[in-house]
Amino acid sequence: MENIHKNILHLEPSRGLLNDPNGLVQFNGKYYVFHQWNRFGLDHSYKEWGLFTSSDLLHWHHEGSAILPDSMLDKDGIYSGSATVANDQLHVFFTGNSKQNGQRKSYQRQAVSNGNFKLIKKEKGLETPDEFTEHFCDPYIIKNNGEWQMLLGAQTKKYQGAIAIYTSPDLYSWDYRGIYFGNPILDQMCECPNLVDFGEEKVLLVCPQKRQIKPDKDISSYSGYFIGRQNKYRFLPENRIQKLDQGFDFYAPQVFTDEKGRKIMFAWMSRMNESQEQQCPTREYGYIHCLTLPRKLVLKKGQLYQKPLEEYRNAAKLERHFREREHEFQMSTDFEIYEMEPADNDFKVELCNKNIIIEYKDGQPWLKRKDWSSNNYEQKKIKISAINNLSIYCDCSAIEIFINDGQIVMSARYFCF
Ligand code: FRU
Repeated sequence: MENIHKNILHLEPSRGLLNDPNGLVQFNGKYYVFHQWNRFGLDHSYKEWGLFTSSDLLHWHHEGSAILPDSMLDKDGIYSGSATVANDQLHVFFTGNSKQNGQRKSYQRQAVSNGNFKLIKKEKGLETPDEFTEHFCDPYIIKNNGEWQMLLGAQTKKYQGAIAIYTSPDLYSWDYRGIYFGNPILDQMCECPNLVDFGEEKVLLVCPQKRQIKPDKDISSYSGYFIGRQNKYRFLPENRIQKLDQGFDFYAPQVFTDEKGRKIMFAWMSRMNESQEQQCPTREYGYIHCLTLPRKLVLKKGQLYQKPLEEYRNAAKLERHFREREHEFQMSTDFEIYEMEPADNDFKVELCNKNIIIEYKDGQPWLKRKDWSSNNYEQKKIKISAINNLSIYCDCSAIEIFINDGQIVMSARYFCF
């Protein structure tokens, strides 16, 4: 049976469950997108890294498995991490999950490749410092003032979210430098930190998680960011946390700098709840979840913008609409972009056979999405005072909406029947 939900440009696995983008890098001209992968099933019981490669960010090839949970320090899962290039070698860093007597134990591990896809793991791993629980994960590597730095998502023994920092002169020996950022806003745990370097100004991406401690369980989580500065090994925020994406499906973003100097972000395009995940129509075809499109990050006058890449705008069928009050777009079987400038602050755009609706009513903009597991609409208030322009990137079951040149972005999965 034809799969009408199969996306054209959003990366998704041919089988199994995909979650976080990992190890994003451009190495010898080639783009690498590793990802969390259960290639055996549609649940989270097994984790390895899979790999997509591309030479233009548009045409991708899935290379299959890249790192397997095949050693004592990672036998229960290759968790998220990042990559960098040094001395013509690709270095990836990831968290090895190795349960001991049923209890989680984390090791921060490294693997190196000289140019082929074979990554050789270093034998040892970093153990968790005393002040944290074993929720210590997702190493993010950056170079700062000539020094390598590694940020980690953490939970203190007082059950507060935190980001830890290590430094290294050579990527091989690492020194723990304490808590880079710890703040009650990081809830009971923090995952997948990223630091985006705009010179003096830095953007810190975080995924705070509210947790119930007994039994240890994720209650809710989201992706946010701070703009601020770095003083030695501490991050000093200059604003309050902001959501990276105001839509329904966005988590665990990762940012890398490509050879053109662009800061490019991918994220896992899912925040599905249990029943949405259980009833996700792609299960029938043996796979579940996708990544967002890559977005370029720009910092302008203290404001972070997320912009679609030129490559994608050029590749799509583009329709432009100006100063109309009502739009209705049916679902098509192609990747399409709609660019719009609404007539005024009172409009309605219906997309994908009314599965997605953007409506500005009585001074308040809303995003509505039909939930395929209940058939009801879910809605989110869009936190913005005026909508000047919209760019809507519409794939067969994934939509990304960029408002006011990327000041606000909203991502959502949807399924037409
Ligand atoms: C985020 C996350 C990471 C972890 C990975 C495991 O979605 O929980 O913190 O490394 O997924 O798949």
